[in-house]
Order: sequence, then C-alpha cells, then structure tokens
Amino acid sequence: MRKDVRRYADAAAVVRALEPSYPIFCLRPDVIHDVARRFLEGFPGTVLYALKCNPHPLILRCLYEAGVRHFDTASLPEIAQIAETYEDATCYFMHPVKGRSVIKTARRVYGIRHYVVDHPDELEKILQETALADGDPGELVIVVRIITPPAEGTALHLSSKFGANPIEAAAILQQAQARGCATGIAFHVGSQCCYPEAFTTALKIVGEVVEMAGVKLSCLDVGGGFPVSYANVEAPPLEDFFETIRQGVAALNLGPDVEILCEPGRALVAEGCSLLTQVHLRKESQLYINDGIYGSLSELGMIGIEPPARLIRFDGEVSETQESFTINGPTCDSIDVLPCQFSLPDDVREGDWIEIDRMGAYSSSAASHFNGFYAETFIQVGDAPPELEVTFEPPETVIEETL
Ligand SMILES: Cc1ncc(COP(=O)(O)O)c(C=O)c1O
Repeated sequence: MRKDVRRYADAAAVVRALEPSYPIFCLRPDVIHDVARRFLEGFPGTVLYALKCNPHPLILRCLYEAGVRHFDTASLPEIAQIAETYEDATCYFMHPVKGRSVIKTARRVYGIRHYVVDHPDELEKILQETALADGDPGELVIVVRIITPPAEGTALHLSSKFGANPIEAAAILQQAQARGCATGIAFHVGSQCCYPEAFTTALKIVGEVVEMAGVKLSCLDVGGGFPVSYANVEAPPLEDFFETIRQGVAALNLGPDVEILCEPGRALVAEGCSLLTQVHLRKESQLYINDGIYGSLSELGMIGIEPPARLIRFDGEVSETQESFTINGPTCDSIDVLPCQFSLPDDVREGDWIEIDRMGAYSSSAASHFNGFYAETFIQVGDAPPELEVTFEPPETVIEETL
C-alpha cells in the first residue's frame, strides 16, 4: 500500500477528524490482504477475483499487492480497468452473454483467451468474432457454464438465469472441441453459500457432463459463493470449502493438466470495508440515515443478510440499553427502508454516526445515484479486523485509543 495515503486508526477516528455528513467507506487493507492470502495459499488452484463485487481502485491494489493476478470480468469496461492498470494480470470473460463487438475487442485488443458460454449460439458468435480478429480459434478456451441446483443455505441462487443442463453442456463442449478450442466447465453454487456440500453436489454434475461429453478439459471453474459471517449468520471457515472442493475435484480424476479455478467476490472483500453513515433524524424508533437501499445498502434489500452495526458518538455519554431501530434511507422513496433492524443504544440521536460492518461486497458497485444520494468516499483505516459486534463502545475509550 502506498505509504503517503492517509490512514486513520478506525472509523471513530474518521468521525473525529471529519465529522462527515456524507457516507464514507472505511477500507481495511490489512483485512483484505489477509483473506486474499488465505485464498491464494488454501484454495487448490488459481484464484480469480470477481471484479463486479467491488472494482474500487484501492480494493484492487490491496488484492494485487497480496498476490491476486487473475480476474473474473464480465464486461469490456471491467476488462479495460484491469488491463490498463495491471500489465501482468489475466482477465477471463465470465459473462455467458456478450455483444459481438465486445467479443471482438476483448480478443483483439486485450487478448482474452477464456470465454464462458451456456448456449451453442454464443459459441458460434465467439468463434465468428474471434476468427475475424485473429483467425486463431486454437488459442481459445470455451468454458461451459452448467446449472447447479439451488443449494440450502445460499442467499442468492445464480443458476436461474444462466447455465446449460448436462445434455446441452456436453453438446456445447463437443462442438467447441470439434472447432479446435480448448474446453472447460464452470458453475456457481450461488452467492453467500454456507454449505460446503453444495460444491460436492455441483462437482458430481461436472463428472456426469465430462462423461457424457467425452472431451478433455483444460480448466474447471468452481465459481464463487464463498460466504462471510454477518450478524444473523455464522459462516463456516473458508478452509472447509477448500477441503471439500479438493476432495470433490480429486474424485473426478480429471488428471494433473486440468487447471482448477475459483472466482470469489464477497469472501475476498466484504470484511475489508465498513460503511460510516450518519443519523439525520430520529422519529421514536425510526432512524433516517444518509445511505440506503438505493445506495450502498442495496444488497440488504435483496438477500437477507444483516450486517453488524455500532454507534459512534464523540460528544457525550451513550446509554447502555439497546433498542431495535428501523433504518430509513435518504431518498424520497418509501421502499428505501432496510428490511432488518439495527440494535443500537436507546438514546441514538440526530448527528450520531452508525458504522455498518462487512460492507465491502456489492455495496458501492451496486449503488445508484437515485435522488442525488451516493457514497463515493473511500478512506483507509486500521491495521486489524474490526470486531464483529453490535454493542456500543464508550466514546471516550474509542477516541482515546485512536488518536
Ligand atoms: C459468474 C460469477 N462469478 C463469481 C461471482 C462472485 O460471487 P460471490 O461474490 O458470491 O463469491 C458472481 C456473482 O454474481 C458471478 O455471477
């Protein structure tokens, strides 16, 4: 990390210094570095970061400095961002549906080799557009995305929109091989998947497809989905997933030449960022804060995660009694209300700050600018993970510790 970038001790120090009335992302580079090292050292294969999860340049720099060099990209702007920033990084085009000119530019300008498909027409499109670009389909790796069943304990099922069934997948693999491409299989068990067994189930389907297709695979991509602990869910350790995947892959007997890939988003970056918001009005048990469902908290409205939250106040004592509060976002829309409540000191008042933890994933990248409200400030904090807590720390203690 560049040494000249200002770094605060923690979110309370940010409040003390800036008294911000706008939302701020507090980025913890050390947390991101540590989780990236766990992936790079523990996953039995190559780790791709799913850029969609959070493409902020500071996040990317943390991951790059930890050793991440491979990226799951889904659009030309994502590919360009990585390619124009990191010369030695490799992008994989993991979106199953792409525009023709996008494919052509991805191949001709950025030299992308790996393309995901889930339909024969998409394979044809890729072959046509890449042949126009360089006439060398032999360089291509066509990765067929397969459907996996909805897994228990998974917050967001991702096979409802994309994926080929085993018979379709086998046929696409055969066509790709017949046209001179290397082949691979990909799946995604669903985001925030808390059961490692979901990977075992998916890998068994891979085995069926490989047997049916009779092709030689060059890669197998087990996707993302690795979970994070939130206030309402305790996720198993990443290492349980790595071991389950290792065993599931070994049972397939694919041989040593098949490269195993994963493409985590959430698990790499969620814990490395909190969101500092301010209370702009209190009406009894309702708080109106400066970020919400249309902004950085959009995922909370969709997948039932409840992030830990704590109050920060630096000009007075805070009650030790907790109360549940409804959290309203800043826009004029009446659906801009969090589906979960926050447990906070019962004397929360206008001007207090709320630090919402585990907000690195699908927060700023999924936010809109609706009504003119959006968080665009990232500040670096800390050298240790924030505690997973919902209780308030006395302000004097917080401030004394941090200055
Ligand atoms: C194709 C693909 N790969 C990887 C990811 C990252 O998933 P996660 O953040 O659950 O690890 C996603 C998320 O939508 C995805 O669609």
